[in-house]
Amino acid sequence: MTDPDRLPAFLDTLDAELRARGEWGRVADYIPELAGVDPAQFAISVVRADGSVTGAGQCDTRFSIQSISKIFALACVLNRIGDSLWSRVGREPSGDRFDSILLLEQEQGRPRNPFINAGALVTTDELLAGRPPREALSEIIGFVRAAAEEDDIHIDKAVAASEAATGYRNAALVNYLKSFDNLRNAPERVLGTYVHQCAIEMTTRQLALAGRCIAGLPGAPMLMTEAKRRRIAALMMTCGHYDGSGDFAFRTGLPGKSGVGGGILIAVPGRASVAIWSPGLNAWGNSQAGTEAAERLARFTGWSVF
Ligand code: DON
Repeated sequence: MTDPDRLPAFLDTLDAELRARGEWGRVADYIPELAGVDPAQFAISVVRADGSVTGAGQCDTRFSIQSISKIFALACVLNRIGDSLWSRVGREPSGDRFDSILLLEQEQGRPRNPFINAGALVTTDELLAGRPPREALSEIIGFVRAAAEEDDIHIDKAVAASEAATGYRNAALVNYLKSFDNLRNAPERVLGTYVHQCAIEMTTRQLALAGRCIAGLPGAPMLMTEAKRRRIAALMMTCGHYDGSGDFAFRTGLPGKSGVGGGILIAVPGRASVAIWSPGLNAWGNSQAGTEAAERLARFTGWSVF
């Protein structure tokens, strides 16, 4: 166990070394509004079990959390309907890209897990529950604000509009789900809600605070049962990085969830909640410098679920 007092200095060194190396990867350009983001950015925030918040880099810069929002949508839906979600979505890693349509045909419209886009669209369909999208979005934003204990968390409407205008793959997925009768609401309504959910923007500090409830840190707001928290963390471990989930688990030993905005939320059960952001992505669409930082943090602290 590393002396906790050495963590701030470690994070500063990590930030400086990653910037000096300058290997950032490529930003997601299939969402036009994200294509212009400068890849040479980095932030890391760590909230520990004693409540302390440590960070390095641009911890107060807001970024698009994108697929990390799928954790919060899943928590809302599990709280609302419990295990009946699993009749519509699986719990297995897909081994395919996050936006793949391939398995959906082979498996008769039941997505492999709630973190690939197809599974997240079904989860958002449950979040809608026949309500106006505004109400479903208020529920998820309310959850995130309560988890972070911060109100200054919002949806970037320009990012949502940009994805809505160009999201042909998600449009295909949501219509395909409907053809298998695995969608209750109108496809365009689900898609509209989903792109707004993905366009929530947060800083790493806010995200690390919100992640306390997934890491089960003492003093975190009680927003779900312990059983649900553990299951969400298990899904992050097995499916949180799509076809790169095995690599992330191998390198860090920790449950993490990535987003194409370059964010990663990591739960270290009972010990810490970590949020990392660097917008350049690797071949799997996960943050390149962020994954490197996660690996080095795990090695430095000895944090692992194994
Ligand atoms: O649906 C999409 O394509 C995006 N809104 C979210 C994808 C995403 O973040 C994948 N993560 N690495």
